[in-house]
Amino acid sequence: MCEVKKKNGFASGIGFVLAAAGSAVGLGNLWGFPYKTAAYGGAAFVLVYILCVLFIGIVAMIAEIYLGRRSQSNTITAFKKVNKNMGWAGMLAIIIPTFIICYYSVLGGWTVRFTVNSFQWNEAFSNSNSFGSFISNPYMPVIFTVIFLAMSAIIIMGGVKDGIEKASKILMPALFIIVVLIAIYALCLGEGVAEGLNFYLNPDFSKLGFEGVLAAMGQAFYSLSLGMGIMIAYGSYTGKEIKIGKSAILVCIFDTLVALIAGLAIFTSIGHFNPNAFKEGSGVALKSVGLMYQTLPQVFASLGWFGKIVSFLFFAMVTIAALTSVISLLEVATQFVIQKFKVKRKKATLILALFCFAVSIPVAWSVGGAFNGKITLFGFDMLTFFDEITNTVLMPVGACVSCIVIGWLVEKGTFKQRLNPFNTYRALEQDGLALGKVGKLFAIMVKYVTPLLILLLEVFGIIAKFNEYFALNLNFVWILAGAIVLMAVGVTVYFVFFRNVETGCNADET
Ligand code: PHE
Repeated sequence: MCEVKKKNGFASGIGFVLAAAGSAVGLGNLWGFPYKTAAYGGAAFVLVYILCVLFIGIVAMIAEIYLGRRSQSNTITAFKKVNKNMGWAGMLAIIIPTFIICYYSVLGGWTVRFTVNSFQWNEAFSNSNSFGSFISNPYMPVIFTVIFLAMSAIIIMGGVKDGIEKASKILMPALFIIVVLIAIYALCLGEGVAEGLNFYLNPDFSKLGFEGVLAAMGQAFYSLSLGMGIMIAYGSYTGKEIKIGKSAILVCIFDTLVALIAGLAIFTSIGHFNPNAFKEGSGVALKSVGLMYQTLPQVFASLGWFGKIVSFLFFAMVTIAALTSVISLLEVATQFVIQKFKVKRKKATLILALFCFAVSIPVAWSVGGAFNGKITLFGFDMLTFFDEITNTVLMPVGACVSCIVIGWLVEKGTFKQRLNPFNTYRALEQDGLALGKVGKLFAIMVKYVTPLLILLLEVFGIIAKFNEYFALNLNFVWILAGAIVLMAVGVTVYFVFFRNVETGCNADET
């Protein structure tokens, strides 16, 4: 019933890799990675980040792509096909991305605005007051959010092959070329470049701490689009001809490369603009959202007319990156709605995009500080609140569940037999996961190493988070509570409405 249907799937292996990379490369790489690197000790953070990608990211990505591929269906059905009582994980995998869209699109909207403004008002825009007046305006950010969401909805409406795959095939190579060009330009700026490199590549482990380690893990999940439905949904659109291991590794390499190169470009150009920026208390925004939207425009403005071109290219690149990510976020829920409720793709996309837009309005006001910054949730601005719930708590949980499902539940057999990862390796191979030589290693990782690592980092990291927020007079308990409420809602909705009924598969999309 759920056979592979070319019509709705990716046309080629490279198309799939580019689309998955399109999802992975996003604001996480170009905005999150650099500012977290600045906050948590430069190369110390980068090192832990790379370790997380190697030991956790690649494994979880293979698990998720495979979970999708074997089911040829939306995320709920994908988990259900392994075990009916696990379908709630698929429900969460739909809820989490939908939440992310609501703040991601606001930042996407800002980015569109910056791209458009590169030539006209770069100088004016680079002074922090006008940045502040743009984001705190009650209308402008909302208008740009809608423009950004509309662009992504239009691509999704085109379908997987003719919309998502086609767009990724053009946009991703363009993005890569731009980031490399900008990095070369930045490295050639001369004065200050050495200071920038020193800040980026000199590890300062004293700044890392457990919150830094947790931030690195969260960042890895976020940047690789793991721990929710994305890779499951995209994986479901592939057939046996795609090499899962190879594709996952390619996506991880591509994603990490873009983050590293972006870091190079950003820190060297800040060094050129003002090497004092790296000193404590310099007043230059490095460790926050402001890095990309406040500090970089100032850097571009200082580069004269050529800076305008660089600014345009840079923000166009960020727009592309954000667009291909939001497409993947929106596709997860769209896929489910199409399949479960037998709605046409265009209509499903429209309904979901409108819903996300509605929620993103208060988020835009909250992040930008409109209405005197009164719109907050438990003291947090809504972006931080949503981001922490998903990034810090739910995505690690989601990725851990995917690993456990693949590592423990696909295989049938007694508990004792299942303790042995080599039995799992054979069972997975029979089930259709051919990883060649690394199959055994994968079985050990997915079964034991990766889930344990995630749990350990999560527990210690959350304890550290309490302290981090305590110092800011904020209570992390609200974020934990928010995450638990979301999970409870997901689990309840699943067991009440979806456990005992058909939840559709890819072949249902007409
Ligand atoms: N990976 C994207 C980024 O780095 C964001 C994203 C997160 C996309 C989760 C999909 C799912 O920005």
